[in-house]
Amino acid sequence: MENKEFQIEEFDIKLDTEEIGRQFVYIQQVDSSNAFLLTNKELKTHGTVVLAEEQTKGKGRLNREWQSHPGQNLTFSILLRKVDGKKVNIINLAASLVVAQAIENLFQLNTSLKWPNDVLIDNKKAAGILIESTSKANELDRVVIGIGINVNQINFPGKYLIEPTSVRKEFKNKVSREKLLSEVLNLFEEVLYKIDENPEDVLEDWKERCNMIGGKVKVEGAKETKFGIFDDIDKEGFLILKTGEKTERIHFGDVSLR
Ligand code: BTN
Repeated sequence: MENKEFQIEEFDIKLDTEEIGRQFVYIQQVDSSNAFLLTNKELKTHGTVVLAEEQTKGKGRLNREWQSHPGQNLTFSILLRKVDGKKVNIINLAASLVVAQAIENLFQLNTSLKWPNDVLIDNKKAAGILIESTSKANELDRVVIGIGINVNQINFPGKYLIEPTSVRKEFKNKVSREKLLSEVLNLFEEVLYKIDENPEDVLEDWKERCNMIGGKVKVEGAKETKFGIFDDIDKEGFLILKTGEKTERIHFGDVSLR
């Protein structure tokens, strides 16, 4: 497939934010846009977005690799400064929520969410999020939200934990990366205000799109695997797992229905 260079003006016309994406860095090749924003001290403005056409060491959750064909998808990171540590999990969930909403708004596709932050279309993975941070004196100095969306890629060679798909594959037509990125950033800025004012609503919107709640699940952590009922998401965004009489708060892991 022929790749089309990302058109910054086309994206910029549709960007309707005060802060998010107002400083925009477009890079042809980088190791990882997350690593770049976490360590580049010259980039310090809240809301800075780094979009990379190609990542040579794209990072996924739980030390996995994020693969994306150069020039076809969206691999970008957003920098937030001085974030209250208690809000990080909700920001993480909110990022997946806005990616799902953007895909629904623009392409009328049904999406669902998988805890903590996978975006699925027809039960296949279309996007993933990796949130990372650095702290200074008990405060989160930099929070970087890395988002990978499979946009126009058609073939996914290799092995994947969840079957991958792309917006183009599901929409059955080529997709404008510029429109999709501006929509995601517009919604992300809005959801950040909502998190300050009404975090419960954000969690409700997230839960509405998660069809695993109430189901029997398997949670694979780094050391152990747990089985139980996916009871709820608590106020801070942790998964509440019911195992017999006990309930546990799950901080990370891979969840699947069983
Ligand atoms: C996952 O589902 O495992 C998370 C994938 C996150 C990938 C994005 S692509 C942009 C940013 N830079 C990275 O190195 N990773 C994130």
